[in-house]
Amino acid sequence: MLSFFLNVDNSSWYNKLRFMENKNPKLTKTRQKKIISLVLAYWKRLLLAALCMVVVAGANGAMALLVKPVMDDIFINQNRDMLLLIPGIAILVFFLKGAGTFGSEYLMNYIGENIIRFFRESLYEKIMDLPISFIHKEKTGALMSRITNDVNIVKGMVSTAVINLFRDFFSVIAFLFVIFYRDWQLALGAFVVLPLAFYPIILFGRRVRKFSTGTQETMADLNSFLHETFTGSKIIKIFNLQDFEKERFKEKTNILFRLEMKKVIAKALSSPVMEFLGGLGIAFIIWFGGLRVINGSSTPGTFFSFLTAVMMLYDPVKKLSKLNNTIQEGIASASRIFDVLEESSIIMETKNPEKLMGRSFDVEFDHVDFSYNDNEAPVLNDINLKAAPGEVLALVGMSGGGKTSLVNLVPRLYDVTRGRVLIAGKNVKDLSIKSLRDHISIVTQEPILFNESVKENIRYGKMDATDLEIENAAKDAFAYEFIQGFPQGFDTIIGELGSRLSGGEKQRICIARALIKDAPILILDEATSALDSQAERLVQKALENLMKGRTSFVIAHRLSTIDYASRIILLKNGAIKEQGTHDDLMAQKGDYFKLQTMQTAKG
Ligand SMILES: Nc1ncnc2c1ncn2[C@@H]1O[C@H](COP(=O)(O)OP(=O)(O)OP(=O)(O)O)[C@@H](O)[C@H]1O
Ligand SMILES: [Mg+2]
Repeated sequence: MLSFFLNVDNSSWYNKLRFMENKNPKLTKTRQKKIISLVLAYWKRLLLAALCMVVVAGANGAMALLVKPVMDDIFINQNRDMLLLIPGIAILVFFLKGAGTFGSEYLMNYIGENIIRFFRESLYEKIMDLPISFIHKEKTGALMSRITNDVNIVKGMVSTAVINLFRDFFSVIAFLFVIFYRDWQLALGAFVVLPLAFYPIILFGRRVRKFSTGTQETMADLNSFLHETFTGSKIIKIFNLQDFEKERFKEKTNILFRLEMKKVIAKALSSPVMEFLGGLGIAFIIWFGGLRVINGSSTPGTFFSFLTAVMMLYDPVKKLSKLNNTIQEGIASASRIFDVLEESSIIMETKNPEKLMGRSFDVEFDHVDFSYNDNEAPVLNDINLKAAPGEVLALVGMSGGGKTSLVNLVPRLYDVTRGRVLIAGKNVKDLSIKSLRDHISIVTQEPILFNESVKENIRYGKMDATDLEIENAAKDAFAYEFIQGFPQGFDTIIGELGSRLSGGEKQRICIARALIKDAPILILDEATSALDSQAERLVQKALENLMKGRTSFVIAHRLSTIDYASRIILLKNGAIKEQGTHDDLMAQKGDYFKLQTMQTAKG
C-alpha cells in the first residue's frame, strides 16, 4: 500500500496530473489579498467569533487546570468544600465552551457561506459576460463544476480553516500555558520530542494538494462528459454507442478512484503518524513526570493536570496539521476560480462607448477578415459589403461558406480579426455593447429555448411586453394556434413538453421572440428551414412585412424563400463570390444559377 502511494512518479496519469498542476500556479499575492479582504469585510463578526474562540480556548485550559484541585484537594486532602465548588466550576466551564463553540461555528459559517455566494455570483456574472468562444473552449460541465464544486472547497478553506486557525491556536496557547504553569521543567523536557511532528505535516500537505488539484480537474472533466453524453443521448443510442460511452465513463471514474485513494492515503497516514509521535512524547512524560512525583519534587495533581493538558493539546495540534491540507485544497480551487474571474474578455467596450440612436441604420463590412482561432485559417476573407438602411440582403452559399460567422460579427458575438464592421458609419467596437445588441434582433440557426413557459420564452425578446403583445407576436409568427393546443397554452413550460415540440414549432417560437423585440436590424439565420413549404410561405409573408424598413440579413438554403431580397450575396469559402438581384445572378450563370437550377430540378 505504501509503495503504491510513494512510487507514483513514472506512471503516465501522474505526469498528466503534474501537467494540470502547472496550469494552476499557486495563488498569487493579489489573489490572496482578494480573499483576505473578502473575509475582513466581515470584521465585526470575525472579532466576535474570535472572542467566542478565546472563550473556548480558555474553557479548554480551565479543564486541564481543574484536574489538579480534583486530584490534590478532593482525592488526596479530602477537602469537602472543594467537593461542591469544583463540580460547580466544571458546569460553568462546559457551558462556556458550548456557547463559545456554537457562536464561533455559526459566525464563521455565516462568513464562509457569504463568500461562497459572492464567488458563485461573480463567476456566473463573469461567465455571462465572457464571449461565446470562452464557453466553447472551457466546456459547459467544467464551468458548472467551478460554480458548484470549487466554491464549496474555498468555503472549507475560509470557514473551517479560520475556525481551526484561531480556536485551535488559542487552545494550544491555553494548554501550553497550563503545561508550563504546572511544571516548566517537565515541559521543557517534553518539547524536545515535538518538533519531530512538524516534518510529516509539511510532507503530507504537499501530497494532498497535488492530488486534490487532480481530483478537481478530473471531476470537472467528468461533469462535461456527463453533460455531453446526457444531452447527446439520442445520438449515442442511434449509433449504438452506449457500450463505448460506458467504457469511457469507467476510465474516467477509474482515474478519479485512483486519485481519491492517493488523497485518502496521504490524509489517513497523517493522523496515525502524528499520533505515534505524540505517543513517544507521552511515554517520556510518564517516565520523567513519574520520577519527579516519586522524588517528591511534584504532586500527583500537578502531574495529572500536566498530562491532561498534553493529551488535550493533541486534538488542536492535529486539527492545525490538517489545516494545511484544507488550505492547500482551497488554494487549488481558488486558483481555478480566479482563472475564470481574471479571464480578460476579448470583447470589451472602449472607454467612452457611444450609444446607437435612431430607428434605421446602414450596416457595412469594411475589409473584414475573421478567424475563430489565432492559428487557424480565416473563415472570412476581405469581406466588403454595405447594406443600406432598410435594405434586405440575402446570404446564400454552400454550407460552411461563412454565412453564420459573418452575421455573428454584427452583434459582436465575435470580433473581426481585421477590418471593421460599421453601423451608421460607427465602428461596432466603439459602441456600447448593450445599445448595439438592443438594436439587433436575431433568429439563430439552432432554435434555443429556455425551460420556462412559452410566454416567458417569447417575452425574452422584450421583457416588458404585455400578454397581448406576446400573443400578437405569436400570431405573426404563425405560432398562436399550436401554442393554444398545448396543455396550458402560453403558460406551458417548455421542458414539460419534452420532445413534443417539433423543429418547426421551436423555430416559430424563436421567430415570435425576435419579432417582439422590434429592432431596426434583423438577422434571420435559416429561420424557417424546419417548416414545411406551406407554413414557410405563411411565416415568410409575416417576416417580409416585418422586414420593411429594417436592415435585414436573411440566410437561406432554400433560394425560393429569398427572391424578394433587394440583393443576394453568395458566399463561398469565406469570400463574396457573386452579388446582385435574383435576375442579375441568374443572368450571370455562375454558382447561384447552378444552385437555383439544382433546387428547381429537385423541387
Ligand atoms: N465556433 C467555431 N470555431 C471554429 N470554427 C468554426 C466555428 N463555427 C464555425 N466554424 C468554421 O467556420 C466556417 C464557416 O462556418 P459558418 O457556420 O459561418 O458557415 P455557414 O455558411 O453558416 O454554414 P451553414 O450553411 O452550414 O450554416 C466553417 O468552416 C466552420 O467549420
Ligand atoms: Mg450557418
